[in-house]
Amino acid sequence: MTRLLHRSIAQTYPVAASGRGVTIRDAEGRDYIDASGGAAVSCLGHSHPDVLAAMHAQLDRLAYAHTSFFTTEVAEELGAALIADAPPGIGHAYYVSGGSEAVEAALKMARQYFVEIGQPQRTQFIARRQSYHGNTLGALAVGGNEWRRKQFAPLLIETHHVSAPFDYRGRLAGESPEQYGERLALELEAEIERLGPGNVIGFIAETVGGATAGCITAPPGYFRRVREICDRHGILLILDEVMCGMGRTGTLHACEQEGIAPDLMTIAKGLGGGFAPIGAVLVADKVFDAFARGSGLFQHGHTYLGHPLACAAALAVQEVIKRDRLLDNVKAQGTHLARRLAERFGNHHHVGDIRGRGLFQAIELVADRSTKATFDPNVRLNARIRREAMARGLMVYPMGGTVDGVHGDHVLLAPPFIVDGATIDTIVERLGDAVDAALAEAI
Ligand SMILES: Cc1ncc(COP(=O)(O)O)c(C=O)c1O
Repeated sequence: MTRLLHRSIAQTYPVAASGRGVTIRDAEGRDYIDASGGAAVSCLGHSHPDVLAAMHAQLDRLAYAHTSFFTTEVAEELGAALIADAPPGIGHAYYVSGGSEAVEAALKMARQYFVEIGQPQRTQFIARRQSYHGNTLGALAVGGNEWRRKQFAPLLIETHHVSAPFDYRGRLAGESPEQYGERLALELEAEIERLGPGNVIGFIAETVGGATAGCITAPPGYFRRVREICDRHGILLILDEVMCGMGRTGTLHACEQEGIAPDLMTIAKGLGGGFAPIGAVLVADKVFDAFARGSGLFQHGHTYLGHPLACAAALAVQEVIKRDRLLDNVKAQGTHLARRLAERFGNHHHVGDIRGRGLFQAIELVADRSTKATFDPNVRLNARIRREAMARGLMVYPMGGTVDGVHGDHVLLAPPFIVDGATIDTIVERLGDAVDAALAEAI
């Protein structure tokens, strides 16, 4: 009998015993291709020897030193590397231990920024519906997934939500992608006006929407307009790249493809690649300078900030990605994955959309392609697909509530950056079989 409160109490989980490359092996010797990197985490797959060596070496030197007493070489080196490749205007990194902590820190930094510059009346955040920013209270508050927020709503800070770009479901007939982007930007501006521009702290958005809506990308020009609107009203733009960042979409930062830079950016999953828990907020000079000229500190902190072992893991992960030119592979295999998904699911009766960028792609399941009607949520199609995939030795990341937090199902794929074409072929083949088996049971 387990003594753990697992994610689902009713479920029995296989015991992950070892991992190598794109594969996890369970205690009974069954292999699973990790086609989702867990939840878009394991960007180098499992047990990468260079990362393990760097971690062992760090462990032999120093495992832990509290950041109120010391900095460490490895933390400084990682910081220099992150800033060398950061979007323009970003000059400092603040470490945490994961995505939710990064979002919490970014929200507090944004608030403190306005206190420092003498605008304490700014108290409001705007975020997007169907977003996911984490499960701690601040991150959950800005998140836009109604199912996740519902029972905790009385505990959450007030946040205002506008539409997220969702081309498949949100763009009107006859509307060009550019017009759609402009409409969404105007919706944001209208919300800012409604709240009073001087009361708004920031707008937070996933550059590519991940967990809750399944790889939704922004229409051309949308983020440039968002950047311009935020600037005009003196509002901070916070981009959450916890899932879509650190190379997952084919560029180190997803915002590079949008031609903009944020004021604060959260990164996590692919930063440490699952070798150790680490996240970070990348901080624009204007925010850092306000702190430096003002109180001289960011009023925050956790025990494990800048953990040397986690920094060593992240530094090694990022060095391997660069050294082995893995972003080229993300682009090449991303194109291959898109092609294979189109071949397998392009004419599938119950796949309405295939979307995403790089090695960050999703299929959306529908009951009826012509109406885009979703399956009854009680059927729990996404859970059935997960089960069928696992039975076929495949880890994917299916999720329900794609459309509004309750309705809709999608399956997210986020294979490691080291994946090859033959493995992509196997992934798509097994996924196809799993989807068909789940549908056969469900309808
Ligand atoms: C965009 C985004 N932000 C934040 C988080 C929360 O990260 P964590 O689970 O590491 O707390 C996630 C996790 O999926 C995420 O996708």
